[in-house]
Amino acid sequence: MSYNDDKVRDLADIALHYAKLAVEADRKGLKSLAVTYYSKAVDALTELLNYEESPTLRQLYTKKIREYRYRMTFLRGVISGKIQESKPYKSDGKPVIEYKHEEPILKKFKSSITWDDIIGLDHVKKLIRQSIVYPIRRPDLFPLGWPRGILLYGPPGCGKTSVAAAVSNEIDAEFYPIDAPMIMSKWLGESEKKVAQVFSFVKERARNNIPVILFIDEVDSLIGIRSNEVGGEVRVRNQFLKEMDGLEDKDNFKLPLFVVASTNKPWLLDLGFIRRFQKRIYIPPPDRETRKKLFRYFLSKVNVNSDIDYDLLAEYTKGYTPSDIKDVCQMAIIEVVSELFESGLASDPSARPRPITMDDLVNAIKRVKPSITSEMLIVYNNWYKKFRSE
Ligand SMILES: Nc1ncnc2c1ncn2[C@@H]1O[C@H](COP(=O)(O)OP(=O)(O)O)[C@@H](O)[C@H]1O
Ligand SMILES: [Mg+2]
Repeated sequence: MSYNDDKVRDLADIALHYAKLAVEADRKGLKSLAVTYYSKAVDALTELLNYEESPTLRQLYTKKIREYRYRMTFLRGVISGKIQESKPYKSDGKPVIEYKHEEPILKKFKSSITWDDIIGLDHVKKLIRQSIVYPIRRPDLFPLGWPRGILLYGPPGCGKTSVAAAVSNEIDAEFYPIDAPMIMSKWLGESEKKVAQVFSFVKERARNNIPVILFIDEVDSLIGIRSNEVGGEVRVRNQFLKEMDGLEDKDNFKLPLFVVASTNKPWLLDLGFIRRFQKRIYIPPPDRETRKKLFRYFLSKVNVNSDIDYDLLAEYTKGYTPSDIKDVCQMAIIEVVSELFESGLASDPSARPRPITMDDLVNAIKRVKPSITSEMLIVYNNWYKKFRSE
């Protein structure tokens, strides 16, 4: 595996450890000690940014670093007497935390993506129809209810998010994407409240008979196992499982509500979580035939030369995801458009770039690295065999 999973996990544990100590010291009014621990947490998080690949987690860590620095500056100011500490503790003994953070406003997300925009994945489309579309269309035919939790897993860039958005559009559902930074605005405390708020919000929408899809992107970063779980993380996970169980209650079990989660790293999920996601769907990388179709699809809106050999393109792109193939096509398009600009002709609105040739695409393929290795596929395949639900 090319992931730095162990290193990342160690650093995340160190960061969590110091963050917890810092907040404890802060709560007790031990300002210098809190500053020391915050600074160690910031160091670990900064180091972590060198290894963590997930954009959502990177965003979360960056935000934490900012918050902790802000708090350190504040505490240092109080220690040196430059800042007047106004009301550090509430009557219940909890500190008034001055971190600025956004409230969890669950925003409806409108995407125009349809099944026609998703190339290949015929088997996946069928499974999604069975799990989501049919129960929404004829709930009366499902006296025992249906699985609420659907896990989409597989390598990045193969269509997990796209599939969730497309099914939402097919059934005219409200689509609410959430991710770790939205939920874990603080590592300690309150995050589990946000999970509860999110669920009560979507249940309320579904009670009005509006189909709702709550989409949890990169769910492993929200509830992935940590070797020594502390504070917020474990509470978030437990709250999450509790909410999932709540959907089976008799008040809720007919609600047109689905929780769709996606992950590139299903092996980070624990059994308690996996059990709540009864339907687990593998979103595989494209086979050769699908890669051909992907090239045709991404090049359908531009002028192409007759020398393009789609079979060869598919042959050259083993291990490429749909997202990689999109990058390849985009690169070739940018190339011919740049030529048009450099020739000075682009200012004429009727001017068109020259057709894209096989050479352009082959050159672009050389510059875009495949995202998938055969070792990765083995890991996914093993997980699939162990946890298949179909
Ligand atoms: N099967 C597919 N067909 C067409 N485009 C795809 C497909 N899978 C991914 N893409 C393209 O790659 C981008 C990333 O896909 P996404 O659905 O976010 O992947 P994932 O969630 O698995 O990482 C999308 O914007 C889309 O343009
Ligand atoms: Mg995605």
